[in-house]
Amino acid sequence: MKNMLLPLRSYAIACGLFALAAIGRVSAADSLPHQRVSLDAGWKFHLGDEWPEALHLDKSGAASGPAAREFIDAYWRSVDVPHDWAIELPFDPTADTGHGFKALGQAFPHNSIAWYRRHFELPATDSGKRIGLTFDGVFRDATVWVNGWLVRHHESGYSPFREDITDLVNFGGANTISVRVDASKVEGWFYEGAGIYRHVWLDKTAPVAIAPDGIFIYSEFKNNLPQGPATVHVQTTVLNHGREAGATEVSWRIVAPDGRTIDAAGMRQVSPLAAASPTEFSGEARIESPVLWSPETPKLYKLVTTVSTGNQVVDRQENAFGLRTIGFDPATGFLLNGQHYEIHGTCNHQDHAGVGAAVPDALQEFRVSKLKEFGCNAIRTSHNPPTPELLEACDRLGMLVMDESRLMGSDSDNLRKWEELIRRDRNHASVFLWSIANEEFSVQDSPQAANIARTMQDLAKRLDPTRSATYAAPEGNVFQGINAVIDVRGWNYHYGPDMDRYHAEHPNQPNIGTEQASVVGTRGIYANDPARGYVSAHDVVWPSWTTTAESWWSYFSDRPWLSGGFVWTGFDYRGEPTPYAWPCINSHFGILDTCGFPKDVFYYYQSWWTNQPVLHLATHWNWSGREGQEILVEAFSNCAQVELSLNGQSLGRQAMKRNSKLSWQVHYAPGTLSAQGFDAAGKVVAKTQIETTGPAAKILLTPDRTVINANGQDVAIFTVAALDSQGRVVPVAQDHVSFSIAGGGTIIGVGNGDPSCHEPDTFISSVPVRSIAVGPWRWKLTEVPHNRTALPEYAGSFDDSGWSLVKRGDDKMTIREPNASAVYRAHVTLTAEDLAGAGVQLRFGGCDEEGWYFVNNQFIGESHDWSAKPAFDLKQCLHVGDNVIAVGVYNGYGQGGLDPDVQLDVVGRPTSVQWSRSLFNGLAQIIVRSARTAGKITLTARAEGLVPATATVETRPGSPASDLP
Ligand code: GAL
Repeated sequence: MKNMLLPLRSYAIACGLFALAAIGRVSAADSLPHQRVSLDAGWKFHLGDEWPEALHLDKSGAASGPAAREFIDAYWRSVDVPHDWAIELPFDPTADTGHGFKALGQAFPHNSIAWYRRHFELPATDSGKRIGLTFDGVFRDATVWVNGWLVRHHESGYSPFREDITDLVNFGGANTISVRVDASKVEGWFYEGAGIYRHVWLDKTAPVAIAPDGIFIYSEFKNNLPQGPATVHVQTTVLNHGREAGATEVSWRIVAPDGRTIDAAGMRQVSPLAAASPTEFSGEARIESPVLWSPETPKLYKLVTTVSTGNQVVDRQENAFGLRTIGFDPATGFLLNGQHYEIHGTCNHQDHAGVGAAVPDALQEFRVSKLKEFGCNAIRTSHNPPTPELLEACDRLGMLVMDESRLMGSDSDNLRKWEELIRRDRNHASVFLWSIANEEFSVQDSPQAANIARTMQDLAKRLDPTRSATYAAPEGNVFQGINAVIDVRGWNYHYGPDMDRYHAEHPNQPNIGTEQASVVGTRGIYANDPARGYVSAHDVVWPSWTTTAESWWSYFSDRPWLSGGFVWTGFDYRGEPTPYAWPCINSHFGILDTCGFPKDVFYYYQSWWTNQPVLHLATHWNWSGREGQEILVEAFSNCAQVELSLNGQSLGRQAMKRNSKLSWQVHYAPGTLSAQGFDAAGKVVAKTQIETTGPAAKILLTPDRTVINANGQDVAIFTVAALDSQGRVVPVAQDHVSFSIAGGGTIIGVGNGDPSCHEPDTFISSVPVRSIAVGPWRWKLTEVPHNRTALPEYAGSFDDSGWSLVKRGDDKMTIREPNASAVYRAHVTLTAEDLAGAGVQLRFGGCDEEGWYFVNNQFIGESHDWSAKPAFDLKQCLHVGDNVIAVGVYNGYGQGGLDPDVQLDVVGRPTSVQWSRSLFNGLAQIIVRSARTAGKITLTARAEGLVPATATVETRPGSPASDLP
């Protein structure tokens, strides 16, 4: 290889345009000792990988293509993260079924690798601080460079990663992060998304600072019963990047849920810091009258940790925590705050309609709230570590969490991920159980799996003495392998007598239903339809391994030692279409569909998991054409008796058994089907009715909130419904609705809960690019200035007709001697239309070794790296008609010259897009994100033949994440 001794660098100074517009200024309150700055906004994105040589393993700090700092990404698409490009891809019947038929994966290489780039500036005043870069989650196989330096290769699509990039950044200047993401491989058997689908953070700290995830808070009560005072233990790991060891004080302050600061001795420690290594500090406080956390009363305390050196505060962090006791008893099951507490849980994957895996924080809250509506009090983060914002929502809104690792293993990589998960999540009040893995069929009964389970469990205990671990075991009365060593026996399916036998034979091991039900049903559909991939929403066993809500829950509810359990699933999710495949592209195991619209079974769980009176009729009453035929009507209710009537005629009163449901076969006649629910004393406590509606006449648009935060991240979630002329939702309406938006917001996704809908979830404007091969190239040996000084040979008017032609292929190294120079010239003709677009980019295949580039005699940049592919942004240097591109090249070693493979990309204007979505059984959803300017967002929905609807959401100034300490 030549030129090993030359510094590998290339410059692009494109007509003074160099990507200035793309440089985002990182701003945050400078006075805070620790600034956590969001890097979510302002990324550039390119789907495809035309730079297989980008990763250089030969030299430090060397990279090419988008990994190099100088690369021009001005014409790439702008995106904000969280971003999931899988959601943008078309469905393809040949693609992977489990992942939802998205044209992604090894069979679709052009869709499976993408690049992200982000520019940011750091003020000179940050010099001396430590700079940390954190990715909360990238799916998957991410390679990250900062200013062209390779900083990390991280494969896992679910675990976060962080790098200290202090040594690489420019203080008082521009910086570039480049990320190559390769989603060709899968980690699960369900939809997993693709891209930087969680938040990205920049942490600026003093050299002495709290370590990442370096705070641990846990509480103790006498006998694990919350009847007296609580002892709060706090631990803080402090890092010292400085060379000097010095005395450092860590102090802790606890703020109660009502805002009062709790006075406590023992909440301060002064210790010398070891140079360049972590030091542990700890303290404890007694809280005399603790306010307890539970899903029903999610009261949070706050710990404020302050680190000072030499009387100066160098770091401060706030952590929410809850006071509660948890435990598992083999006979009485899960105990929360000393009482048996039944887990009314749901397993959930992490995608939502419209946005895929890139779920905005406000949508996490929306999802948790939807689950709470039917009495769900626990989420299992199947089958991977969650995003931290989900846990924060669970802490705040009151939802227990079973926190799951993607895989089990005691190799260093798996143990590191397991440790990082526990360190990151152990302060969350919501987290009550660690899960080491799910359904490891082929190894679960082996001695090796038992060893690994023990190792993982022991590590969890060391890092967190307060919680137990479980394993989601898909087997019955089997006590070997993992089951024989795990703290809490998890049960995936296999409910029934096997459980009783197991419990009798192993009375000292607690149990929990880690995964149950798996009943499928499509919202608003009441008969199986294999052609369209729909399944009846009546709670019937389908497919073979499933159990109805009524059967599994009746069994568990009668056995407190089982601790309750988790339904597969709370929400429908993409992938795993069951039992039918294409055209069905998502699962319909959910109690809610992918938008969070309830299915009928929602009311079964609401009946038996809440104390509110519930009465719901499971069917609609728009059966035109089936007059006189029998229609199955189910009643989900917790009333003692339910009476059903059709058009005022009683169809009989039936008594409700606990944890059950009722049904009638009703001869269809249009009109009103009504029901009354009675308590044990015969008093009417609930009423409901469904009516035969007219055809859809108008649209109703309803946002979940009327005021949202103007922080560029908050979202409003609009329900779109079709109403008849009397204002009743038409349960069979399928109208195609289009949307327009005005004001400070953008639409980020649409959905309708239809598991077989192939309409797009997002509408991306495309940018037309016309690539022109520049040539032929002529050349001549001559001296060239090694700077921006123009030669007569660079001028448009220069006559090069007598120069030699540059050949393509093997012979293209035209300068055969070392220490020689030449000028290369080519013409390109452009039209007014070409120049009316967004811009023009000139891309060179290579220049060996150094080049000075001119267009129409104007200097556009230079390159000094024989392996780089220089590119320049040059619209302002071009004119209509003939344009001349000239390059002065110097070859120092061996042979050299200009590679004649040169492309001119004429970039057009982005096309406009029209957002739309069909209603599915009367409903659709549209998700709108706020801009950073306060004001109003007005959304309008139109459909042919229907009265349009307009809804407005106010956006108020709030704190963007970058302003948080
Ligand atoms: C379970 C598995 C889940 C899902 C479910 C479908 O065995 O743990 O991930 O595949 O089956 O019923």
